[in-house]
Amino acid sequence: MSKQLPEKILIVDDEPDIAQILKLHLEEFGYITNWAADGEAALKQLSSNGHDLVLLDVRMPGISGVEVLQRLRASGLDTAVIMMTAHGNENLVVECMKAGAADYVAKPFDIDDMMIRMKRALENQQIVKQKKILEQEKEDFIFMLSHDMKNPITAVIGSIDIMREGRLGEVNPEQAEYLQSAIESCQEVVTMIDNLLDMQRFDTGRMQSRISPVNPCTLLETAVRHFSAAAERENIALTLNAKTRVPEIAVDSSILARVFANLIGNALKFVPDGGAINISCDCIERSTFGKAEIQAAGSSSEFASAASFVRISVTDNGTGVSSEDLTNIFKRYVQAGNASRRSRGGAGLGLAFCKKAVESFGGCIWAENNEDEGSRFIILLPGQSGSFTSENSIPEKLA
Ligand SMILES: Nc1ncnc2c1ncn2[C@@H]1O[C@H](COP(=O)(O)OP(=O)(O)O)[C@@H](O)[C@H]1O
Ligand SMILES: [Mg+2]
Repeated sequence: MSKQLPEKILIVDDEPDIAQILKLHLEEFGYITNWAADGEAALKQLSSNGHDLVLLDVRMPGISGVEVLQRLRASGLDTAVIMMTAHGNENLVVECMKAGAADYVAKPFDIDDMMIRMKRALENQQIVKQKKILEQEKEDFIFMLSHDMKNPITAVIGSIDIMREGRLGEVNPEQAEYLQSAIESCQEVVTMIDNLLDMQRFDTGRMQSRISPVNPCTLLETAVRHFSAAAERENIALTLNAKTRVPEIAVDSSILARVFANLIGNALKFVPDGGAINISCDCIERSTFGKAEIQAAGSSSEFASAASFVRISVTDNGTGVSSEDLTNIFKRYVQAGNASRRSRGGAGLGLAFCKKAVESFGGCIWAENNEDEGSRFIILLPGQSGSFTSENSIPEKLA
């Protein structure tokens, strides 16, 4: 096993005597030390030399210790910092902690106490570093998934589709059905990977949305058409009611399309053969909000300022969700204990993605139990004022 290198400490103090005493003690304990006599010199040393910890005097000529700390954090360096001062008060301690100090010691300090605090700060720093490395590994793994797994699956879907279409030789209806089912299973894996990737993008602030005014009914119509063959095969009535005029919404249409795909895909998993899924889209005014809308209301400024909202609901007569699970299912990796006959695994990420996506558009999403059976997922999105769509002519039943 490689021997651990001694930790490097930067002492920042304008009083050479104090710096000298600290240096002697620290070196006795096996640390390597450097000294900076003011804030400017400290920042210069910190930017070039890899220090593990800084002992930083608060009062110094030129820039103060607190400002050095603030500039250090602003530059992205997370080296552990312990502040030292002879003129401490509670407000100063709070200010230092807020600025990112690991600890605070009052002068004159007790060297044993100082050593304990340094050891603790260095250990905490190590934990933070380890966590960062793990975060980075997780991120690298998730982005690797997108290329190294999604691309081959997409190629598999393409090849099966060519066979299913009969371009490589005749296929009978039963074979075509099996091939279609294989395609849908592959597509579920692609959806899972997409959900995972997008959750990561939302978490790291790297989600790039292309927001534009969108007619929600057109988007729903496309989503329903996409699932109509699967619904038909299971003898499920998939209907869309979107006949009223609704405002346009400011969203990224491809992200919202994936939200709809997740909700319809879930409903298909949980309704029995011969069941029904109804999707509706209408306009609701804030003045007519009921208890459910008020409770679920989004916290964004777009939500707070809108008067009209587009309400989209996906209702099914499947197994439903128990009352305790109605909010939990929107947390990542949560699956309620209502495994369905058609359940094909899944990762419990779909609804977490839906929630992040809808909230990124200033809206909200929640689930309700249907009156007698099944569940209903409802989305409210702030309408763009004065941008009503023309009357929709979408047929009531698409499947
Ligand atoms: N339409 C529905 N009917 C009944 N339960 C549902 C429905 N939609 C979602 N659920 C429940 O919520 C859980 C989480 O859904 P989701 O986040 O999409 O993950 P996954 O589909 O991967 O299980 C599901 O496992 C299921 O228990
Ligand atoms: Mg799902």
